[in-house]
Amino acid sequence: MFAAAQSWLKQRKMAKAEQALDPELASKPPVFLAPPFTPDLVAAIRLISTQLTLEPNEKSRLLWQKEQNAASWGEYEALAPALQSLDKPKRVLEIGPGMGRSAVFFTKKFGWQESEFHLFDGNGNSTKYKYKRGPRFEDSFCGNLKLLSTLLDYNGLKNYKIIDAQERALAKVDGPYDLIYSFYAIGFHWSLEHFIDDISRLMNDKSLGAFIVHGDFQSFSRLKNFNCRILPLKAAKKRTTLRLGMLLMSKAALPEVGRPL
Ligand SMILES: C[S@@+](CC[C@H](N)C(=O)[O-])C[C@H]1O[C@@H](n2cnc3c(N)ncnc32)[C@H](O)[C@@H]1O
Repeated sequence: MFAAAQSWLKQRKMAKAEQALDPELASKPPVFLAPPFTPDLVAAIRLISTQLTLEPNEKSRLLWQKEQNAASWGEYEALAPALQSLDKPKRVLEIGPGMGRSAVFFTKKFGWQESEFHLFDGNGNSTKYKYKRGPRFEDSFCGNLKLLSTLLDYNGLKNYKIIDAQERALAKVDGPYDLIYSFYAIGFHWSLEHFIDDISRLMNDKSLGAFIVHGDFQSFSRLKNFNCRILPLKAAKKRTTLRLGMLLMSKAALPEVGRPL
């Protein structure tokens, strides 16, 4: 009886989580594919996506796949007007890729199979972030690099290299990159201000940076060296109080998309 009630509650939570997704984004075809859910994979995802209640079963796999793709479609649609008018990037750095959805999504949707993706993240067992623009910690990594590479391989990605943050600090990564981006990581949980020196060092005069930020994001002194625009960004969840934007930054002129910061 108790087990039946528990199972009913879990199913209800899953149904609610699915209904909470933006219907337009959630109805788009999946580009990032989730492999069969094992207990290890579910544990790793739950550490990164703390708001999701997932179990090692097919229903959870399909829900997570839907949520990951809805978020990625929103990001792709925000960036496409700016990126499609520019040359394909040769070197791309993603900071905090989690389970790798964005590298898969961008490679497939922008046709960046020839671009070299460097994915910077670290293994970790606890989630250490503030909801909004927190300080920088050296031990805030909650990734699982083995599973990251399993998921990238499962999606057929060949153009990636993982940089283990425990072995190489961001300050020691070799640049420059044509595109640096970070979604729900730098700029969102951890303030961009604390990372801007490391990121600037990895950019040249033409490089582009893209960061998911909160809607009330404000410029700061060291960002004044860049042209900055905020692109509208649709979140995966429909009824969210979360206001989001995509910060685009470059020393070069930016396409006239979104609004200037
Ligand atoms: C909330 S997850 C976002 C994952 C992925 N970008 C997404 O949107 O699905 C935050 C990611 O940032 C990574 N991270 C934590 N601290 C970091 C740091 N100091 N520098 C770079 N990445 C960090 C975590 O390990 C985790 O993979």
